Amino acid sequence: MNILGIETSCDETASAVLRDDFKILSNVVLSQDEIHAPFGGIVPELASRQHLTTLGYVVEECLRRARLKIEEIDAYSVTQGPGLIGSLLVGLSFAKGLAYFFKKPLIPVDHLQSHIESASLENRKVPFPSVALVVSGGHTSTFFMKKVLDYQLVGKTRDDAAGEALDKIAKFLDLGYPGGPIIDSLARKGNPYSFSFALPQMSDRSLDFSFSGLKTAALKEIKESNLSKNHPHFFDFLASFQEAIIRALISNLDRTIKVFQPSSLILCGGVARNRRLRARFEDLARKHSLQSYIPSPQFCTDNAAMVAALALEKIRGGEKTASPLHLNAYPRYPSPQPFPAKKGKKR
Ligand code: KG4
Ligand code: ZN
Repeated sequence: MNILGIETSCDETASAVLRDDFKILSNVVLSQDEIHAPFGGIVPELASRQHLTTLGYVVEECLRRARLKIEEIDAYSVTQGPGLIGSLLVGLSFAKGLAYFFKKPLIPVDHLQSHIESASLENRKVPFPSVALVVSGGHTSTFFMKKVLDYQLVGKTRDDAAGEALDKIAKFLDLGYPGGPIIDSLARKGNPYSFSFALPQMSDRSLDFSFSGLKTAALKEIKESNLSKNHPHFFDFLASFQEAIIRALISNLDRTIKVFQPSSLILCGGVARNRRLRARFEDLARKHSLQSYIPSPQFCTDNAAMVAALALEKIRGGEKTASPLHLNAYPRYPSPQPFPAKKGKKR
């Protein structure tokens, strides 16, 4: 059996084909970075329009690389949410059309859950219970998973996501887009302990995150110290800001581990590409004697291999696939249940 996945939740147009033993036959990701870079951030309408013009070609290329004809695809899967609604609607409509025309099942998947699944792409034996930290441009969330496909959201950001904070500071400093990888590289030239940032604390001791305070403190420092590319402590500042974000993530995860006592830890999402975060995450796992899983960088940022893999996992778990025609997209996590709501039921 071959399953084709489609991902268009944000600014990557992606398609992948997996075999039912989870072997990746092809994985194509078309980035829109060049389109959004002049604006210093994603322009939602441009993202949707770009998905609309490129998705068909991305799927064609994906089939070509897998050496398969479209008739040899036995099931489809697609990201249903959360994400940019216009972008999601393009991928979902395309996938619905394919599934309907070829009379194949369509398995919708959640974007955050598929990021978590990306940790299993290269290692199918992640032990449960597990705690997963999803750090991306739009989300910073922790999940407790008692078993496979069982997701309990235990912490989320109350304002900016970690990637968003990195992207915004990079934009303010005119460093380019996306800011996360740029700061990752430049921070290597600086001293991460040179500027001090307070660790964000939740007054109610919850396991939620907050990054807007760090972002405001960084903006204040930039203005007060007149920080720009020529400043002698420019790299120190970037290294210290990145360190503050990492410290907030790791200290939250440390508390989450103490509460949930998992057997393994997962780090995923675009920001999981960050080299220093990867190292600090592995230190934390060692400290608690836990197995740790971080996808290879190419599977951290948005891709469709994780979409098809989660769909396969759901098929194995016995998920029933009804007609794809009723499916709709949702912009925020968690998805309203059931989605769409039954007639007459108030959501
Ligand atoms: O998961 P993703 O591809 O898209 C969303 O679902 O949002 O994550 C994109 C985010 C962006 O904020 C980007 O700046 C960040 O991941 N990112 C990084 C690195 N590579 C990508 N952040 C820090 N260090 C990196 N090396
Ligand atoms: Zn993502």
